[in-house]
Formats: sequence, structure tokens, C-alpha cells
Amino acid sequence: MRLYITGGTGLVGGNIIRLARRRGDIEIIAAQYGPPPEWDVDYILDPLDMADTAAVRASIQRYQPNAVIHCAAILDHVWMHENRAAAWRATVDGNQAFAQSCAEVGARYVFVSSDWVFDGQEALVDEDSPPMPVLYYGFMKAVCERDIMGVAGLSYGIGRLAGVYGINYSSPSLLRKQNDVGFDLGNYVVDQLSRGLVAEIWTGPKVNDVAHPTLASDGAEMLLRLAEHDENGIFHCWGSEAVGRLQFAFHFADAFQVDRTLIAPVPTDPQVLDRYRHIRIPFRTVSSNEKTSKALGRSTYKVLDGMRDYKAQWDAFHGASV
Ligand SMILES: NC(=O)c1ccc[n+]([C@@H]2O[C@H](COP(=O)([O-])OP(=O)(O)OC[C@H]3O[C@@H](n4cnc5c(N)ncnc54)[C@H](OP(=O)(O)O)[C@@H]3O)[C@@H](O)[C@H]2O)c1
Repeated sequence: MRLYITGGTGLVGGNIIRLARRRGDIEIIAAQYGPPPEWDVDYILDPLDMADTAAVRASIQRYQPNAVIHCAAILDHVWMHENRAAAWRATVDGNQAFAQSCAEVGARYVFVSSDWVFDGQEALVDEDSPPMPVLYYGFMKAVCERDIMGVAGLSYGIGRLAGVYGINYSSPSLLRKQNDVGFDLGNYVVDQLSRGLVAEIWTGPKVNDVAHPTLASDGAEMLLRLAEHDENGIFHCWGSEAVGRLQFAFHFADAFQVDRTLIAPVPTDPQVLDRYRHIRIPFRTVSSNEKTSKALGRSTYKVLDGMRDYKAQWDAFHGASV
């Protein structure tokens, strides 16, 4: 398979490339936006800004891939809220260009979407639940999903992820957030606790309190399966189990056998509350992945399975246990 991937320096994209390289039967073309990845690149890198729709078309035409996994995204919610036109060009127009180009060259298109197409208010959502976004990021993702469904002749899979954590193998020096309104807590918690420092977990307003955390390598495996699948639709590629963010932090401490009493639930940082004052965050998303598990032939990890693998990956990557 000739696989074209965007966002290869990111947490998810880097894990997909890692998986694809290990398979050995996948030719990789990675669209490159900012600085190149930090690992040895033994595949094609093609400079690309997804906001440049003509360049997107030209790149897909040039490489004629069998499948495209579009992972690249802007994840800075404050920036998106304040720069809506630019965010729209990159996210919505960029997606439209990828989807149409895939239809033109007959490539399977996998778009990476998010649980934040939901408002986090329903008791349970599944792949067929209508979206109800409450922030601009989720709104654009929902628009992208709909746009894809309208492209004639396109083979597509919309792979939604949630609360992704893990090791960004392609760009490990990229700092992840210190704490997060979402579920990107893992590296921060492990790093703090392993140094005997308190890990503060925001539990006040403007945080996602319950979600389905997804180990990046596990989500990557699902997205790669989706690229090789032929059914059109929406697929929940996130972790199989919902958990509260504080409990999630405790699981990291237990998995790494570090002192869980150093985890401190604190009110959300006032500066964050101020920056997010106009932005709503989905509070609690609980979902079924049943349709996806059946279609793709495997279930994603439950929380403790993900922790086990994350610990093993951390030890292998950092050379020793904390
Ligand atoms: N992380 C989560 O918790 C989460 C949850 C749900 C869904 N998702 C979705 O999963 C996907 C991957 O997320 P991630 O966590 O891997 O994000 P990430 O680590 O922030 O990576 C984002 C990638 O997008 C690239 N990018 C940004 N702007 C671009 C542009 N204008 N043109 C081309 N590439 C651009 C970045 O390139 P540079 O590195 O050069 O800036 C980077 O490679 C996204 O679609 C995201 O919406 C993530």
C-alpha cells in the first residue's frame, strides 16, 4: 500500500508512521508542515500547508496514494477561536481538498475527527448519534465529517479519537502541555511524580472531566485498519472505556509505581479560565464503540491495558523505568 499521511510530526501521525514502517509492506509519503521529524526519515517528506488547497491537490495528484490518513490539525482552541477564518481554511477547506483529491485519484480517505463533535451532555453516544459541538474545533470537525459524506465516489472512513496520550516518537522534544483541559495528562503526571513533584490536576470548570482516553499507538492501529477497510462511515477509534480525569491520573501513578499522594486535584488555573472564558469544553463523553469493533475486527484498549502498554513504551523509549 502507498500511504499518504499528514501530521506525521504529531502524536498520532508519528505513531501511525512508526506502525507502518514496522509493517514493512507500506510505502509512506508524509506531508511535512513545520520542522522535520527528529527520527531518521526513510520515507518521502513533502512540504505542505493544509490551508493551501491547490498544493494539497497537487501533492495527492503527484503521489497517487492508495490511502490518505489526514491527521494534521490545529489543536490550540484559543487561537482557533480568535483566528476563525485561518482555522477554517486549514481545517475545513484543507479537508475538502483532501477528500476531493482522494476521490479523483481513487484513494481511500481517512479523516481523523474527535469526540468533541459532541457536547459531553448525553448519557451515551455511539457512531450514529448526531453531533452537537459546543466549541469551534468541534464545529469544524463536524463540518468536515459532513463534507466528506458529500463527496461523490469517495471511499472514506471518519476515525474519531479522544483524549490521546502517549509518546510522540517522531518529535519527542516537542513539549506537550503541562496540564490540559483535555486528557493529555500522561507525560506531565509521570514526569512530575517521577521527580517527587506534585502533579496538579485541574478539576474545576472548563475541563473535560470524563472521556475515553486513547493510547496513541492503539488509535494509530485502528486508523491504519480503517485505511485498509472498505466500509464508508464514522468509526469510534478511541479507547474502549470511559474514565474520570483524576482517576486517570491515579492510574498513571499506579502503572509507574510512583507516589499517588502527589496527585493534587486543584481548581482550574485562573489564567486558563480567563483564556477560555468564551470557549466551552465538552464535560463528559461516554460512548459505545461496538459498531467500530465489529467492523475493524478488534476493540481498542480499556484504560488499564493502555496504561500497561504506555509504561512498556516509556521504558523502552527512555531506556529505564522511572
Ligand atoms: N490529541 C488529542 O487528544 C486528540 C483528541 C481527539 C482527536 N484528535 C485528533 O487527532 C489528530 C492528531 O492529533 P495529535 O494529538 O497528533 O496532534 P499534534 O500532536 O498537535 O499534531 C498535529 C500535526 O498537525 C500538523 N499541522 C498543524 N498545522 C498544519 C498545517 N497548516 N498544515 C499541515 N500540517 C499541520 C502539525 O505539524 P507541526 O508539528 O509541524 O506543527 C502536527 O504534525 C488531529 O486531527 C486531532 O484533531 C486528537
